[in-house]
Amino acid sequence: MDWREFESTIARFREDIRRAIQDARSESDLQDIRVRCFGRQRGFLREQFKRMADLPPDLRPRAGQLLNELKEWLEREIADRQRRLQETHLEERLKQERIDWTLPGTPYWRGAVHPIQQVRQAIEDIFLEMGYAVVSGPEIETDYYNFGALNFPPDHPARDMWDTLYIHGEWLLRTHTSPVQIRVMQRYRPPIRVIVPGKVYRHDEPDATHAPVFHQIEGLVVDRGIRFSDLRGTLAYFLQRLFGPACKMRFRPSYFPFTEPSAEVDMSCLLCGGRGCGACKQSGWLEVLGAGMVHPNVLREVRIDPEVYSGFAFGLGIERLAMLMFRIPDIRLFLQGDVRFLEQFRVDTWAFRDDVTS
Ligand code: PHE
Repeated sequence: MDWREFESTIARFREDIRRAIQDARSESDLQDIRVRCFGRQRGFLREQFKRMADLPPDLRPRAGQLLNELKEWLEREIADRQRRLQETHLEERLKQERIDWTLPGTPYWRGAVHPIQQVRQAIEDIFLEMGYAVVSGPEIETDYYNFGALNFPPDHPARDMWDTLYIHGEWLLRTHTSPVQIRVMQRYRPPIRVIVPGKVYRHDEPDATHAPVFHQIEGLVVDRGIRFSDLRGTLAYFLQRLFGPACKMRFRPSYFPFTEPSAEVDMSCLLCGGRGCGACKQSGWLEVLGAGMVHPNVLREVRIDPEVYSGFAFGLGIERLAMLMFRIPDIRLFLQGDVRFLEQFRVDTWAFRDDVTS
């Protein structure tokens, strides 16, 4: 082998490998190139160093120098290429992984407060401010608490106003929250100021305005010198707090066995403001409450002396108020658990994962 052949082999390799290095797209491409150049078995440099033996001895130092230069050049080129590849790789990753803060988050369902509970809470807040306590009683009651103690004589036709669902014997589903009046007065002595939110049951055929289960809030105040004007003032204030200062109120005489005198309480129509519309049957008034002065027989039943104490009581249906406030046309919607209905009353139903601290 002569010098020219040796030199041209090296030059050709250099050209080939230069192109290969340029074309390298990955670390494994570079690794293949390293093997081709520096491999212990069949690497180009190793083979050429071996071939030096075929050259005339006086040319061998030049050949060694040439190969050493090639080796250094290869190492430099490969290292350069490697750095460039790492840089572009990083750039691409940065481009791909850059966080786009404008993208919407991953929403999840948080749920919302049921409209009945929203109205209940609003009403509780108003009475809590006035110093009332919030209490509750059982939904399964006895005939005594639901009727007897509330001055319904047995077989009195007033019971027909509250056709209930009997369980067995004395047990029934309460038709109103009024039995809790008795339970409270048995437990506490005057002064008493409570409201009683809760579920009640009636043996009614369901329709747009009747459901077999609904919610009431009972109110009871017993103290010395409680008068009818206290009842009126309390309810007028309550309705104005709930519906705004323009809300007017009127009392109509009525009958409940457990109050005397008794009244149905109307408020000026929410929808027409009292001018008359479909919702108020052109009367300008909506019936919202039953109320009255606690009957002396009821006070006697719980050993409170009606000569010393007097009181007032009232009861309202939450569904009815919620239907007026939210213009809901059918009471059955409250019970169906249809999310499309319920989510219309959400305050903030949707939240985003970022809110969750885990
Ligand atoms: N309990 C009565 C009803 O369910 C309402 C009421 C409560 C009336 C308290 C007077 C006093 O209709």
